[in-house]
Amino acid sequence: MPYAHITGWGMAVPNKVLTNDDLSKMVETTDEWIRERTGIRERRIASHGETASALGAEAAFKALSMAGLLPSQVDLIICATSSPEHIFPATASLIQDKIGASNAGAYDLLAACTGFIYALDMAAQSIRSGALKTVLVIGAENLSRYTNYKDRNTCILFGDGAGAFVLQASETPGGVRGSVLHSDGSGGKFLSVPASGSGQPASEETVRAGLHFIHMDGKEVFRFATRVMAQATLEAAGKSGWNPEDLALVVPHQANLRIIEAAARGLKMPMEKFFVNLERYGNTSTASIPIAVVEAIQTGKLKPGDKVIFVGFGAGLTWGALAVEWSGPLLPERTIRAEWFRPFARIRSAFRRLLRILEGFLFGREP
Ligand code: COA
Repeated sequence: MPYAHITGWGMAVPNKVLTNDDLSKMVETTDEWIRERTGIRERRIASHGETASALGAEAAFKALSMAGLLPSQVDLIICATSSPEHIFPATASLIQDKIGASNAGAYDLLAACTGFIYALDMAAQSIRSGALKTVLVIGAENLSRYTNYKDRNTCILFGDGAGAFVLQASETPGGVRGSVLHSDGSGGKFLSVPASGSGQPASEETVRAGLHFIHMDGKEVFRFATRVMAQATLEAAGKSGWNPEDLALVVPHQANLRIIEAAARGLKMPMEKFFVNLERYGNTSTASIPIAVVEAIQTGKLKPGDKVIFVGFGAGLTWGALAVEWSGPLLPERTIRAEWFRPFARIRSAFRRLLRILEGFLFGREP
């Protein structure tokens, strides 16, 4: 049975920074309050054109370069997102076109902020079954488009960004080990975008009532999160035959520093073993864990051979954790700049559109 290794990683965040002081000019809040209650200092906000698929493609190019792979070598793209560009087409398909992954299938996965954990698990299972060799897993968000900047409960929390991992099959032991995925839909109402789907289609009324924005019961979500983080971490470690003291690092979903501190207390582990960068990005939902992993590697906190747990929670309610024996690129000597393929991907996409127009003329259909 092949092992599923994480062999490439990348992140992309918008340039525009929204600080707590900026927010204090928009709603009744202060930098001090936000830092004390959440740990967040600033977050990134996408400008026009920095769509979820654009950020996702940027992160994907970096992850492919790290793995030394061409876009055409990818078998499948899973995009976990809480802010897809559309209900359909899938953001994963838009990314597939943007990076020119000509041989890849693509789908979106919606498990809110736990989505990246779910997507990693699906990718690892496909590889371990022998069905696929190379899977690109992306977390890409434009949460600012669903955020009500008149609601101080929610607008202080969220930010935009994307992160991507490449998973590859290898006979060398290691990579993704045990995982746990959980859901409790009875708590769905605590964190939702009420008018975002077929249950309550968008209308003049829903827009007037602000139902197209994120609605949250912060206290309920806080209570739920502090309960499940430590529990899921222990479950995933236990399934891999590890004890908490075996762990070099835990990379938690970056929602709130107090939630992470509660998890550390629950696990009786020091905070140094938890990677935290939420002060600079806020909660980027599915992108928060891969962005944190990229920075954990850059700062030397995650190294090949380390045992690490990724743990997340979010709307649904959903939660889950994944144990990984960190490996690194399989082909470290190979230099490929995947982003050099961007112009080819654009030409390929334009060519396919042109072909469709020509077909329309030939067969008498509307282009
Ligand atoms: N600035 C200043 N005051 C604020 C505020 C803000 N941005 N937001 C709320 N307040 C006020 C409240 O109105 C309340 O005032 P009151 O006592 O006069 O009614 C007071 O501060 C305390 O509010 P409370 O909701 O109890 O604060 P809290 O300590 O629970 O913190 C959150 C609020 C949202 C930061 C916290 O509940 C949280 O982080 N929850 C989890 C959210 C989350 O992670 N969501 C994403 C999951 S993926």
